[in-house]
Amino acid sequence: MQTIYQKMGPAELDAAISDLEAQVAEVKARGLALDMARGKPSPAQVDISRPMLDILGSDADLTDGGVDCSNYGCFEGIPSARRLAGEFLGVPAEQTIVLGASSLNIMQSVIVHYWEKGVPGCTPWHKLEDVKWLCPAPGYDRHFGLTQDLGIENVPVRMTETGPDMDEVERLVASDPSIKGMFCVPKYSNPTGVTYSDETVRRLATMECAAPDFRIVWDNAYAVHDFGDEPEVLANVFDYAREAGNEDRILAVASTSKITFPGAGIAFFGSSPANVTEVANTLKVGLISANKLNQLQHVRFMPTLDDVRAHMRKHAEFLRPRFACVERRLEEGLGGTGCATWTHPNGGYFVSFDGPEGSAKRVGALCAEMGVKLTPAGATWPGGKDPRDTNIRIAPSYPSVEELEAALDVLVLAVKLVSAQLARDERA
Ligand SMILES: Cc1ncc(COP(=O)(O)O)c(C=O)c1O
Repeated sequence: MQTIYQKMGPAELDAAISDLEAQVAEVKARGLALDMARGKPSPAQVDISRPMLDILGSDADLTDGGVDCSNYGCFEGIPSARRLAGEFLGVPAEQTIVLGASSLNIMQSVIVHYWEKGVPGCTPWHKLEDVKWLCPAPGYDRHFGLTQDLGIENVPVRMTETGPDMDEVERLVASDPSIKGMFCVPKYSNPTGVTYSDETVRRLATMECAAPDFRIVWDNAYAVHDFGDEPEVLANVFDYAREAGNEDRILAVASTSKITFPGAGIAFFGSSPANVTEVANTLKVGLISANKLNQLQHVRFMPTLDDVRAHMRKHAEFLRPRFACVERRLEEGLGGTGCATWTHPNGGYFVSFDGPEGSAKRVGALCAEMGVKLTPAGATWPGGKDPRDTNIRIAPSYPSVEELEAALDVLVLAVKLVSAQLARDERA
């Protein structure tokens, strides 16, 4: 699609650029300092979980299902927390492990374990000449970092409106045994906000893979992070995988980082019975037991998934106006200009924004000059390399609505000026 600037005559385009440059100079003079890069809740949003901190006083009962949470033991997690983890991940409680605060940490431990020791019966990945990993993009930069850190080659696969491009995924995994795994954020994906369709979930769980030790990191970080009363529904990947005899393929994780306290929640792992035993045996080497008191206060605060959903409705009150603000400001500023497309998520933490080809890095730099920090352009692609340099991740949760409005106006202005400059460069 052509941008409005590509359709202008040379004189009109020059005038538009001068006008936009004047506006940029004006904004720079205002000395703004705004941040739309942080994918974390605002301080007031975090505060809604504070009542949880009152649950465990010095006279509280510190047992759960007969387990003494104040002492070592019960490595896999306390019974109530495993029940909740099972509800969360769609597996029986016995197929879960509840650990410390971070799901990213669990993902790293499991991938490093396979790297060093291998999936049982298969060659350790570090001994192989080539190890590749599929990375739906735009995606989550910290996922890409986990594999990149080990020297695994990240292979981008384009995200579509129904999840990763499954024709491409199936073609790659069927033909290349060096592809050992894939990252998936199946609900309200980071950053597109897409929830994988039933068909995508089924194909991922049942597809033929050349590598017998192929694994999917099923990172359901935004499983309950709905804005409205009609949550998008994600199919249970384990049901499809079990039926196809592929239950070992799925490594599901989630955490309460964006439910209670980021960095101080509880994290869940769920997989086949064999994987859970194997992963537990490995992790036990370096951990006697996780923080069970934190598990206890979490399950007393939110015993069931329904209680979690009720708590999430309070979070939504903070997020809805911020996401509505993004939609409104972008539509007012860029709607009908042909300069941008963006996603309209019903949950999660991000909006994925695409400008004209070759614009994202320049837009990021220009916004920084005007005092607005964005997630670095390229971060949503493996190695920081967005092949078309279009994508910017917008993180609206942390700033106030007023700050967001100002930051989005700056983004709109930057996108307009860069689009106009690109149209002029094209003609030169
Ligand atoms: C998709 C995804 N997974 C995992 C995490 C981090 O989770 P945790 O705090 O449990 O390590 C995030 C945080 O932004 C995320 O977006």
